[in-house]
Amino acid sequence: VSSHEWQKHLPGIWFYDPGLMSTAMAESSITYLDGDQGILRYRGYPIEQLAEESTYLEVSYLLLHGELPNKEQYDKWVNDITHHTFIHENVRKRFLEGFHYDAHPMGILVSAVAALSTFYSDAKNIFDPASRDKQIVRLIAKMPTLAAAAYRFSVGMPFVYPDNSLSFPANFLSMMWKIAEPRYEADPRLVRAMDVLFILHADHEQNCSTTAMRVVGSAHADPYSAAAAATAALYGPRHGGANEAVIKMLTEIGSLDNVSDFVKSVKEGHGRLQGFGHRVYKNYDPRAKIVKRTAYEVFEVTGKNPLLDIALKLEEVALSDDYFISRRLYPNVDFYSGIIYQAMGFPVDMFPVLFAIPRISGWLAHWNELLEEDAKIVRPRQCYVGSDVRDYVPMEKRE
Ligand code: ACO
Repeated sequence: VSSHEWQKHLPGIWFYDPGLMSTAMAESSITYLDGDQGILRYRGYPIEQLAEESTYLEVSYLLLHGELPNKEQYDKWVNDITHHTFIHENVRKRFLEGFHYDAHPMGILVSAVAALSTFYSDAKNIFDPASRDKQIVRLIAKMPTLAAAAYRFSVGMPFVYPDNSLSFPANFLSMMWKIAEPRYEADPRLVRAMDVLFILHADHEQNCSTTAMRVVGSAHADPYSAAAAATAALYGPRHGGANEAVIKMLTEIGSLDNVSDFVKSVKEGHGRLQGFGHRVYKNYDPRAKIVKRTAYEVFEVTGKNPLLDIALKLEEVALSDDYFISRRLYPNVDFYSGIIYQAMGFPVDMFPVLFAIPRISGWLAHWNELLEEDAKIVRPRQCYVGSDVRDYVPMEKRE
């Protein structure tokens, strides 16, 4: 605690905690994270088991309802989501087509999610559990449609309507890549990889975007407005942009021969090893291990992304170097995810959009939780460091 002037004006005990690094802002039963051990669990289930055995839609049910669904609950959930994948024609025609021709797909997504609140007037009934469930289903179902529409618009391609005979990830890939009638069916290995990546990104406790969701949700805003705020947080390069930075870094390194020199320059303070280190994980990010494995499965279909070899060498060099060992810097989820996305044909602008599609489940689970607990409005205090009281000076007397 500093002995600054502001302390005089604050009654009681106050904590100055920039970045809320030492503040738990909620009690939550959704996600367990142990950064020292490298453990991540959704509702108690290890992420490794979910990524191996489950589907994204089952995981979204788990996050939102607290338990794995039985067969009947699962079928109903999948059916409900599948039947809400279409977006209002005006969202597409008036909104999406109104953006500048080279608009960033994440910018489009932020605006489109916010716009949805004006299409569902029942969204304001946030204390009616049935209404809440309806908005949750709508948002989870429409995210891939909005995301693919944003991409297609940003590259000047026509909108593809959802194909509800397909699974959730296959439908997304169809809306992204379909170029001819009657339908587009992605390779099942890519569909599974997409589903696994969605599972891994579905929640990560009180990260920046989830905190944004909770802050706006605590003011009792409708879920579309709160989700737009969360999406906006994810648009920030510090949060949703690290895998893009990894691709840029690997491209700049360019060849295996340059890896050691690059690591040396990082150690000398010239930039950071992108995709390495994490605020919470001081061990190997468990998601990174799964993403790395998934990369090989994707490359069986797409051919190897040449950046993979550079990434593997970089990891090998860093993990045997005392600088990284002593600081407990390991690959995080972003180290390999961009390499997969790139191999699957996604442009880097779409990377944060791919993050937002599944993260909506986590955001909504936290939103539900805070409403069920009747959480207080988030309203922190500050440490005022500005001028003391002074008299207004008319303009003609100012210097
Ligand atoms: N490369 C090189 N050195 C690093 C790196 C890195 N990637 N990350 C941390 N360090 C060093 C710092 O220079 C510092 O060294 P020092 O003690 O000699 O000054 C030490 O490790 C501690 O670093 P902090 O910045 O205090 O760690 P913090 O927990 O605040 O940072 C962060 C975490 C921001 C993720 C950081 O590791 C980083 O910038 N990584 C690269 C970007 C990245 O991959 N971000 C994605 C995060 S995952 C996600 O958002 C989904």
